[in-house]
Amino acid sequence: MCFLTVKGVKYSFDKGLKLIDIIRQNNITFETPCGGGLTCGKCKVILKSGDVNPITNEEEKFLTVDELSVGTRLACFMEPKGDICIDFPEQLDDKNKILTKGILPEHDFKPNINKKTFEFHQHCLKNELSYLEALENVLDEKVVANKHLILQQLPSIIKEKKITAIYSNNYILGVEKKDTTSSCYGVAIDIGTTTVVASLVNLITGQEIEIESALNPQTEYGLDVLSRIDFVRKNKGGLELLHNGIINCLNRLIMSLCKNSKIDKENIYEIAVAANTTMLHILLNVDPTCMGKSPYKSVFIKENKFLASELGIKISAYGMVYTLPGVSSFVGSDIVAGVCAGSLFEKGKKSLFIDVGTNGEMVLYGSGQMVACACAAGPALEGMNIKNGMRATSGAVENVKIIDSQVFLKVIGDIKPIGICGSGIIDCISELLQNKVIGLTGRIKNQDNIESLPKGVAIKDGSTRSIMLSSANGEISVTQNDVRQVQLAKGAILSGIYTLLDYVKLSIYELDEVIIAGQFGAHLNVESLIGVGMLPSTFNGKVRYIGNSSVTGAILYLLSRNFREIIRDITGRIDYVELSTMQDYEKTFTKALTFKKI
Ligand code: FES
Repeated sequence: MCFLTVKGVKYSFDKGLKLIDIIRQNNITFETPCGGGLTCGKCKVILKSGDVNPITNEEEKFLTVDELSVGTRLACFMEPKGDICIDFPEQLDDKNKILTKGILPEHDFKPNINKKTFEFHQHCLKNELSYLEALENVLDEKVVANKHLILQQLPSIIKEKKITAIYSNNYILGVEKKDTTSSCYGVAIDIGTTTVVASLVNLITGQEIEIESALNPQTEYGLDVLSRIDFVRKNKGGLELLHNGIINCLNRLIMSLCKNSKIDKENIYEIAVAANTTMLHILLNVDPTCMGKSPYKSVFIKENKFLASELGIKISAYGMVYTLPGVSSFVGSDIVAGVCAGSLFEKGKKSLFIDVGTNGEMVLYGSGQMVACACAAGPALEGMNIKNGMRATSGAVENVKIIDSQVFLKVIGDIKPIGICGSGIIDCISELLQNKVIGLTGRIKNQDNIESLPKGVAIKDGSTRSIMLSSANGEISVTQNDVRQVQLAKGAILSGIYTLLDYVKLSIYELDEVIIAGQFGAHLNVESLIGVGMLPSTFNGKVRYIGNSSVTGAILYLLSRNFREIIRDITGRIDYVELSTMQDYEKTFTKALTFKKI
């Protein structure tokens, strides 16, 4: 038995394991973007002490001279020979930049759950009636749901003078001792591929009273849905591992919500979950691998409801979990929830809803039709697959400006730049295009061909060309491959927009509104999106950000039965377009790759 020490905490492990496996076995929060596939080089740790295997060329190529000089290694490659002590190169601040709030639109208030209290006099029991019949007499209603649970509670409940019945719409969900009518809560949850947000809602007042968020623990097994599906496919017990990870995460979030707002988890009766289709499969412990191969079918897509206890979620024994409906394997309930929360369809406008991220889901409403697609934008827009890419957390360059030929880098946490996140890389490429350092084909120009290179910008020719940006607070480099990754992502999004517009026979000039949603969207700068040609310039002045609309949709689902009807109706009206099967899609995609402003 050996010991791994991280930040003063000791974890045990058996010899012969790679560090990545030791980290996983001990549930240490750590991101492994390629799921341990040895391809991303992002699982960096700093070896403080201990004997480990020597570094190979394959591992070394991911590390800079500076990183090597402080003992940086990759967890996927490193195998401890005995006790070791490590540190992480950057402080993960999970809550920093996790977008928790959406914008709650006006809505009617008619929750699915309500409570009524009843006097229970002992004379109710005097005749020949059983406890259950006596209860049904008092409630003036038959118990049809959760009968077993209610029967189990009856011997203690029946002794009370006051009892409270919990109703779900028009049936009795459960019965509790005493008058508990003043405590009735629900939790709205958005399970993102990267982050999880939980919002506690008072079902009596309709108010959102507390919000909590965390990094999705599944990020240890891959950053995008396809690597999670791949992990499940390749690893026996992989699905259970991911499923247990998310259930534990939800229980932790619920515990914090209750602690912070001083409420009892027993008074939470409904949980509404919006998420992409893969996340929902994993939540329900359903094998998602069918979505990773042709014909990309999901096991389920419509709304589901289960007793929370069936899933191991700790709320009231009568508590229910609802998973919201989605459209397809790649346009999930997070998008439908967002579309409904953003009222995409209500104002008679021609509108486009985009969740800019790895999957780049979008829904277009126009000419009486609602049509959706998912663009394989890849993880570049979230700072991944980028040499110095990172999530939008402390140390990430989130904003780049070249003003009067001088570079300015805005870094999260106001510290020295460690890497660059999605909004930073888009800003950066937009500025470099504008300053003609990058050509419209995406090629970084030869220094001799640039008329006036801004101060703080240097072109480095090596095995691949790169650009070093230096400002007063530090420097960051962008490689030719980084530019290509963003180019592919922007090509995917723009070609999706063109294809949907073409599908409903609208032009880019006819759209009234563009709604940008999601974790990543809120940090994007419209000028930069237009600058890299991801959005046509005709969209300028028409963009509306709605924040985390997935959690907003889940909140509305808890607060309004009418919203539940809307979401069901809208789900049925959205046509899903599989881009790869559309005629001329390849041509559209190729055209969309140029960095020319449209
Ligand atoms: Fe280790 Fe990608 S190389 S997670």
